[in-house]
Amino acid sequence: MRTAAQGIEVVAHRGASAYAPEHTFAAYDLALSLGADALELDLRTTADGELVVLHDQTLARTAGDPRTIAELDRAGLAALDPAVRPLPLDAVLERYGDATRYLLEMKDPHPLMERRLVDALVRHRLRERVEVMSFKRAGLRRLGRLDPSIALSPLYFAPLATVLLPQIGRAARYATAIGVHRHAADPALVAAAHARGLRIRAYTVNDAGELARLAALGFDGLITDAPDRARAAAAAA
Ligand code: G3P
Ligand code: CA
Repeated sequence: MRTAAQGIEVVAHRGASAYAPEHTFAAYDLALSLGADALELDLRTTADGELVVLHDQTLARTAGDPRTIAELDRAGLAALDPAVRPLPLDAVLERYGDATRYLLEMKDPHPLMERRLVDALVRHRLRERVEVMSFKRAGLRRLGRLDPSIALSPLYFAPLATVLLPQIGRAARYATAIGVHRHAADPALVAAAHARGLRIRAYTVNDAGELARLAALGFDGLITDAPDRARAAAAAA
């Protein structure tokens, strides 16, 4: 990932999901053409442990199917309409390889997911181009024990910087960065993260004025559905 000295990192949240259906090749292609430095992907596992890119637990919102991804095996996945079938992580890494960087968010991590993720990153030789994120810090810690070379970035829901400040020291013990809610954007939080050697990103920031404000506050990364807007804010900061 870029350092603050190199500029603000623009991360395409589920691809350029303001303009194309989330977590599709169209959204990822567009994100890169709009200047994103990294793709943000949500990860879940199927019933037989395949890693796929999907935000929600179920396929209801994206495919009109009420089933959870965790109850579908390889055959169940293959039977879905290809237009709405979640992409395998392998297919995404195969397509983009070292042409970009990846922020991979483990949704509901578990030991098999972590093992499969490390295996995939080794297989694709992409460990140096990846940062693994999660709101579930126990999963991150387990993944870090499996492969200490993979950069980790805990995510925080709390929209208040005062709640997050005491957590910075704990994060610095195992992480390279943190991801915080855009409402937690605060100069003291940015300063505390930097003082501990952590980069700090905000999610999910789409408004041009807010992107500019966070860029000026010293955020290292902007996670956005609209990479073109974040690129413009980063250039002006
Ligand atoms: O990058 C962090 C952000 O993606 C977390 O929120 O719900 O969009 O996964 P969510
Ligand atoms: Ca996410």
